[in-house]
Amino acid sequence: MHWTIEHIERVFLGYMEANGHAVIEGHSVRSPTDDVLFTTAGMHPLTPYLHGDEEHAAGKRLSDVQRCVRTTDIDEVGDDTHLTVFEMLGNWSIGDYFKETSIPQSFGLLTGEFGIDPHSLYVTVFAGDGDVPADDEAPRIWEATFHKAGVDPAGRINPLGADDNWWSNGPVGLCGPDTEIFVYVGDGPAPAFADRPEFVEIWNNVFMTYFRSDDGELRELAQRNVDTGMGLERLAMFLNEHTSVWETDELALLLERVGAALEVDTVGLDGEGTRSLRIVTDHLRAALVIAAAGIYPSASQQGYVLRKLIRRAVRYAELLRGHDRDLAAVTTDASERVAEVMGKRWPDVGPTESGQRAREVVEKEASKFARTLAKGVQHLAKDAESGETFTGELAFTLADTHGYPAELSAEEAARIGMPIAPDWESRYDELREQQRARSRG
Ligand code: GLY
Repeated sequence: MHWTIEHIERVFLGYMEANGHAVIEGHSVRSPTDDVLFTTAGMHPLTPYLHGDEEHAAGKRLSDVQRCVRTTDIDEVGDDTHLTVFEMLGNWSIGDYFKETSIPQSFGLLTGEFGIDPHSLYVTVFAGDGDVPADDEAPRIWEATFHKAGVDPAGRINPLGADDNWWSNGPVGLCGPDTEIFVYVGDGPAPAFADRPEFVEIWNNVFMTYFRSDDGELRELAQRNVDTGMGLERLAMFLNEHTSVWETDELALLLERVGAALEVDTVGLDGEGTRSLRIVTDHLRAALVIAAAGIYPSASQQGYVLRKLIRRAVRYAELLRGHDRDLAAVTTDASERVAEVMGKRWPDVGPTESGQRAREVVEKEASKFARTLAKGVQHLAKDAESGETFTGELAFTLADTHGYPAELSAEEAARIGMPIAPDWESRYDELREQQRARSRG
């Protein structure tokens, strides 16, 4: 059976609704709190309710699909699973049901609605640490749940330490022990459970019962919550038996459209080319979402992340395309195509006012940076022709006068075979430091 993203969302939310959850709207990707820049998990906008400070108008059982932005893994983007913007399917008990409902409920969704063979399921539970004792309820509930489904639980329930089975949304704040659900996707009988790629983690049920304060002290909350998070793109990958999120319908279509805009043969790409195309696509998709939330490129905070994503998209488009076509035009075209595909499911980046503004913001910044890159490349080509060496002084001039970032000019100099001064980087840092000192004054 083929699982579209929309179908997965409908099945998830329908099941949660049938189990008494109110389906709520996801929050904007702008962080609901001041400590981080973006919404990073489904529970994040629900913090005051989970903490017990406020009552949610929709009740104590909630469910939604939350778009999240994670920039800590930006260097991993381009592999098979990491995305800058991803969606989390989540359900919450705000001081209502606890483990004895949450565990069979999750098992029921996976094996019933999504048709996953219960024999392929493995779980981890919290083994305890110096602060909090081992969770002995979750293993007992899992055992009963497996037995009820006619599955021998032996070897399926694995206690692990706080590195694996303690979840928090940052060093300070709400946290608790969790139980993670894995599916074995290898051939033949499963080996003993271990951290290996054949065991794919699909769902995390956090028993959010603690709060860690600034001074590191852990205290128990007055209410017992459940907070679950299941990555939608990864679930779509697993249900459709793909090995990369980029093979799922929507993302595969995006790659095809961006590839067409860049006029690259997406089938014939090597590993590096594939990675570059994924980065361009991921970053344009994320940039549109962030810009649609009302953020503009700038030198700090969310605006800096937006600028960096757009510039990286242009840079990787340049790696794929070179300068034989107008880079500003091809990245603008790519961004239009991403907006067209994503706008079908995400109206804020579609043909709406916010979508229109997002496209304008992304395309303006992309075009500006594409021109900067093109000028820098021309400049370097001329220097190379006249036999110059790439030095810290040259890198500084290109960055300072033309806005061409030094790490990119150094890469380009190497690519066109310019001699490179071994001390270019330290000299460049020196010149920058001198400039900073002058501007301080
Ligand atoms: N809040 C649970 C998770 O994001 O995995």
